[in-house]
Amino acid sequence: MSNFNYINGVLHAESVPLDAVTREVGTPLYVYSSKTIVSNYTEFDSALASVKHSISYSVKANSNIAILKLLGKLGAGMDIVSSGEYLRARRAGIKGKNIVFSGVGKTKDEMAIAIKGGIKQINIESEPELKSLNAVAQYCGKVVPIAVRVNPDINALTHNKISTGRSEDKFGIPYNEVLKFCQKLDKFNNIKLSGLAVHIGSQLTDLLPFRKAFEKISDLVKALRIAGHEISSLDLGGGIGIRYSDDGNLINLKSYADLVRNELGNLECEFEFEPGRLIVGNAGVFLCSVIYLKQAEKRNFLILDGAMNDFIRPAMYDAYHDIIPVKQNSKSSLLHVDVVGPVCETSDTFARDREFPLMSGGDLVAILSCGAYGSVMSSEYNSRPLVPEVLVRDDEYAVIKARQSIESMIDRDKVPDWLS
Ligand code: LLP
Repeated sequence: MSNFNYINGVLHAESVPLDAVTREVGTPLYVYSSKTIVSNYTEFDSALASVKHSISYSVKANSNIAILKLLGKLGAGMDIVSSGEYLRARRAGIKGKNIVFSGVGKTKDEMAIAIKGGIKQINIESEPELKSLNAVAQYCGKVVPIAVRVNPDINALTHNKISTGRSEDKFGIPYNEVLKFCQKLDKFNNIKLSGLAVHIGSQLTDLLPFRKAFEKISDLVKALRIAGHEISSLDLGGGIGIRYSDDGNLINLKSYADLVRNELGNLECEFEFEPGRLIVGNAGVFLCSVIYLKQAEKRNFLILDGAMNDFIRPAMYDAYHDIIPVKQNSKSSLLHVDVVGPVCETSDTFARDREFPLMSGGDLVAILSCGAYGSVMSSEYNSRPLVPEVLVRDDEYAVIKARQSIESMIDRDKVPDWLS
């Protein structure tokens, strides 16, 4: 059940009216519902009850420390891809032994921070990376558990830009080379093979690609064991999609868990899952104010104060997001509008040709399902400061990220002496 609902004609997050939040915090603004995050996490965790598992929330989806803390309290570990994410997770109280380090290009400095601070496992994606890791681990006097990330050459049937498991993608060790790769591991004294990792893409809405990937992983584990390698863990990545529109297909979590059990359960491994979007995607809205309604010759443009720099998914992936008024107005006539931001390029478009009540300057709209890959992907393009984030719990809310000031944005620029 969604925790964003109209009460007396005003959109609420749980019991908090969103117009009241914007009066205090301003717009543009991200608002998250803790109840939704908790129920998404708990639902996934319970669906997996019949497999031995741990959940490492994928920090890249939404890295606010308050959200990491909320998930940590529920027992989540974290999947991180940079030292920035590692330090955020640690600051949120997540222990190193519950953090998995993924990503195709970890630097030695990043590895050192994770190894010194404590890490559950580092996922390895190439031979040069393996060499670097062994050298850093040796320098730190540690033996680091690793998983080999496999590229199974599977089409995840999702957006091209977020497909990660085809042979032409940069991720993982090619499926047919994993055995050979693992034969070399004995030479490296400061790493210990724990298992395999696989992540074929994001926003998957069909189980079939997962089934294909898991079948291949199962065969590989058997082959590796025959070759004498101990494989005790399988990191199955994230990727489960969410519903962005009413007609979208959705993966049933119980069926996903059944698939894992049926395809991989007999291998007696510990399973790791790295959901991001599934946990936070529908737990956030992006609130904007209308600046102008511009009625042009061919189209009407609802121009918002939020833009592609604040929320880039529609511009980057042609992503569909529902957009609704914060205050219902059933008496208003309807108008077809393109919902756009003020940034100076045509890709700064959140939606085309949507039916909307007549709106004018100062009216509020909510772009839905922006909790994942929203705020984390924002930039200062057009010298627009980064937007704040608010977390709601029942009838209370707190600002969990302050609005960046224009001064602090500009202050990062330095003029060299020879120009002053
Ligand atoms: N594990 C690994 C190794 C990943 O690369 C990712 C996402 C995840 C887990 C979490 O995937 P999720 O459960 O959230 O699908 N910015 C894009 C999505 C990029 C996903 C990158 N990797 C978007 O807005 O759709």
